[in-house]
Amino acid sequence: MPNLKAILVLGAGVDSVLGDPDLPGDAPVLRLVDAGLSGPMAEYALYAVLHFQRRMADYFEQQRSATWQRRDELLAKRWTVGVMGLGVLGATVAQRIAAQGYPVAGWSRSGNPVEGIEVYAGAAGFDPFLARSRVLVNVLPLTPGTRGILNARTFSTMPAGSYMVNIGRGGHVNEVDLIAALDAGQLAGAMLDVFDQEPLPAVHPFWRHPKIIVTPHVAAPTLASESEAQVVGNIGRLERGEQPLGLVDRKKGY
Ligand SMILES: NC(=O)c1ccc[n+]([C@@H]2O[C@H](COP(=O)([O-])OP(=O)(O)OC[C@H]3O[C@@H](n4cnc5c(N)ncnc54)[C@H](OP(=O)(O)O)[C@@H]3O)[C@@H](O)[C@H]2O)c1
Repeated sequence: MPNLKAILVLGAGVDSVLGDPDLPGDAPVLRLVDAGLSGPMAEYALYAVLHFQRRMADYFEQQRSATWQRRDELLAKRWTVGVMGLGVLGATVAQRIAAQGYPVAGWSRSGNPVEGIEVYAGAAGFDPFLARSRVLVNVLPLTPGTRGILNARTFSTMPAGSYMVNIGRGGHVNEVDLIAALDAGQLAGAMLDVFDQEPLPAVHPFWRHPKIIVTPHVAAPTLASESEAQVVGNIGRLERGEQPLGLVDRKKGY
């Protein structure tokens, strides 16, 4: 396509496009900026936090054997949540959870402030951020710098018996390390929406692990009308020589 002017990606993440060996070197890559995705992402993450905090997995299990047993529950104000990635989607996820009374911190590369959220930055901020996070919610983009970031070292820096929610990309998770951390009790549960291989193969151990909840990449599906409006708007901006929305920095990978 010698006249290609731009590549408009119908999603917020561009890892699959940037990883394409046939990607032309010069055309700008534009991703979706929110386009209605932040609300559904926040709902999914909030559901996961509530599910874990209110011991719903235990109660679902108890119901199978008609067991009436009250479990200890910590109040929301003592249930610390950490959001990895404070971009367009992560900032909304963090603020919506914080609005329900959870102490929320976030972690990003730059440490840019997000109202109402305690922000940790870069490599130096990572361990203190993890050490205070009872539930870790991943909303990072998948780049060479973030691939495999949810690994044994990360899990062991979190408080014992923590929880992990992944709505970023499957490539963020070291799958062997995750199962080991769950089996050892270092993690008490995980809710996973994205996987290295999608659809998740029927034989994959995640399907049958008692501490894992699997959903089929549904946290925030692309919305046709919002995306269409943004794509049309961006084509107009390019034609008028204006700065488009969602211009991807190929060096940073997001
Ligand atoms: N499950 C789903 O249905 C679904 C739907 C949509 C999107 N997603 C995923 O969500 C991701 C995030 O989307 P977005 O629109 O919020 O992206 P974004 O606006 O580009 O934000 C990315 C955030 O991650 C931070 N970050 C990137 N690399 C980092 C690193 N090495 N260390 C620390 N922080 C780093 C950035 O830090 P700075 O602020 O310093 O730049 C920024 O805060 C997408 O890439 C996609 O993979 C999933």
